Amino acid sequence: MAEIGKDITKAKQLLQNGNLVAIPTETVYGLAANALNPEAVAKIFEAKQRPSFDPLIVHTYSVKKALEYVSEINPLLLKLAEQVWPGPLTLLLPRKSCIPDLVTSGLDRVGIRVPNHALTLDLLKQLNFPLAAPSANPFGYISPTTPQHVDKQLGQKINYILDGGGCEVGLESTIVGEENGKITVYRLGGLSVEEIENIINEQVEVQLNQSSNPKAPGQLKSHYAPSKPFLLGNLKMLLSNHSDKKIGVLAFGNIAIEPGNKCLVKNLSPTGNYKEAAIHLFSYLRELDELDIELIIAEPLPEIDLGRAINDRLKRAAF
Ligand code: TXA
Ligand code: MG
Repeated sequence: MAEIGKDITKAKQLLQNGNLVAIPTETVYGLAANALNPEAVAKIFEAKQRPSFDPLIVHTYSVKKALEYVSEINPLLLKLAEQVWPGPLTLLLPRKSCIPDLVTSGLDRVGIRVPNHALTLDLLKQLNFPLAAPSANPFGYISPTTPQHVDKQLGQKINYILDGGGCEVGLESTIVGEENGKITVYRLGGLSVEEIENIINEQVEVQLNQSSNPKAPGQLKSHYAPSKPFLLGNLKMLLSNHSDKKIGVLAFGNIAIEPGNKCLVKNLSPTGNYKEAAIHLFSYLRELDELDIELIIAEPLPEIDLGRAINDRLKRAAF
């Protein structure tokens, strides 16, 4: 069990001494260390059991500060940063040499973002270094959206969890960069493709690599996964094909489950609201994973708005 509290001074001191602290953001909780100290960063990989080919996002408190760590920025990406930060957007930008190789896994670009959470912004302003932070979950498992989620899985391995309550977005940041002159989305997330296109006034490429050696990775095919079997498909068909099992259903919108099916239903948003569904996604998956059931099933949402990013997580969880 880690200590959970709202003491920024304590978090600051631990981080200054090269220790790990879990921090709240609007997307998911992060497992943070001094991004400029390779020994501190190494502790993140160890605690998460994360492969070192998977680079980390650097967190800071303003656009101006972020620009100190990169050598250039495409004007459209700058426009995005100015409109969205603090917010659920990570930019991949050419890094300056002050960013250690371990943070970027030796890649030329650094992932950088300004998270939208008052407590964490306050902390970042008091530190004279940025924070490297992946989601605060064991590698491959569901991302945490409450301090308790973090404590349950990583509590033994970290010194302090800064308590910022439940995450207001619930999906990781959208990762965006430039590829052959085109603005490119590498990971769908809390900022929808539609919102990005509205801001930059042009179409983006979406390049969600699915390889075992990803450029960005939540690009791994299997990720965000519960430990119970998880199937994605048509709910009616899945229910009738598995009528012998105790089933947990992750539902969305106004769905009716036939009486007689012995199943537990968690509805991401009975009214079909994508923002609400995003907020609930990871915590409901965890709840279902912990219930006395044999199988979790879900049906893809419509491929619009945050539905697209939610489907991306569901597919990886089911893979
Ligand atoms: O919302 C978020 O982005 C959360 C909060 C804590 O900020 N962080 C997060 O980190 O989701 P993580 O490590 O779980 O996922 C970050 C993804 C990884 O899949 C990584 O491969 C990719 O970002 N990434 C980070 N830096 C990169 C880089 N320099 N080049 C390519 N991909 C990068
Ligand atoms: Mg993650």
